[in-house]
Amino acid sequence: MADILEIDQLGKRNGLPDSLRELLKKYPRDTWEEDVLNGNWVGYWLGRHSVFKEISFAINQSLHNILDNKISTDKFLSDYIQLMNLMLKNLNSHHTVEDNYIFPKFSQKIEKFSYGLDLLENDHHLIHSSIDNVVVEGNSLIKTINDNKVFDIKKVVGSYKTVNDTFEKLLMAHLNDEEDLLIPLVVKYGEKYFDLGH
Ligand SMILES: [Fe+2]
Ligand SMILES: [Fe+2]
Repeated sequence: MADILEIDQLGKRNGLPDSLRELLKKYPRDTWEEDVLNGNWVGYWLGRHSVFKEISFAINQSLHNILDNKISTDKFLSDYIQLMNLMLKNLNSHHTVEDNYIFPKFSQKIEKFSYGLDLLENDHHLIHSSIDNVVVEGNSLIKTINDNKVFDIKKVVGSYKTVNDTFEKLLMAHLNDEEDLLIPLVVKYGEKYFDLGH
């Protein structure tokens, strides 16, 4: 795997690095046709990305609701545990499939994008480091609530939210850049060329 430049790291870059934008400039998002977006692999893959965006939105919503006293602590806790388990389980398998099955299919065919594929794989490592923080802080949040001692819910949830916000920001940026790198390749060459399936 290539070393990823400091300025190209997830959380430091703003969208795809210039060196990887050649095809995106030629095939920007607003030109992606329905037949590509609904393709056998692309349709499925974008569907997975939508699920992560929806879970992330729901977790955020739940954090806002408890901070605004709109839901009970019990409701928050059961929603949060369910949503975060769903996120972690699905994200882990999604990244494993991308690293081991999807990215190699692209890099085998298009050598000059291998830096981009290494960059995306490196993103996965950074996202998982951020997840480690989320899990530690999330478990501490759950324990504080379950301990039944006196605590300030807004303070505890507010402090957890900063860690959650960092994770969410990294994940959303990664999903966006991953789509910006891979979809233009599919627009240009088609799914068959990369032997994509699911
Ligand atoms: Fe990914
Ligand atoms: Fe992905």
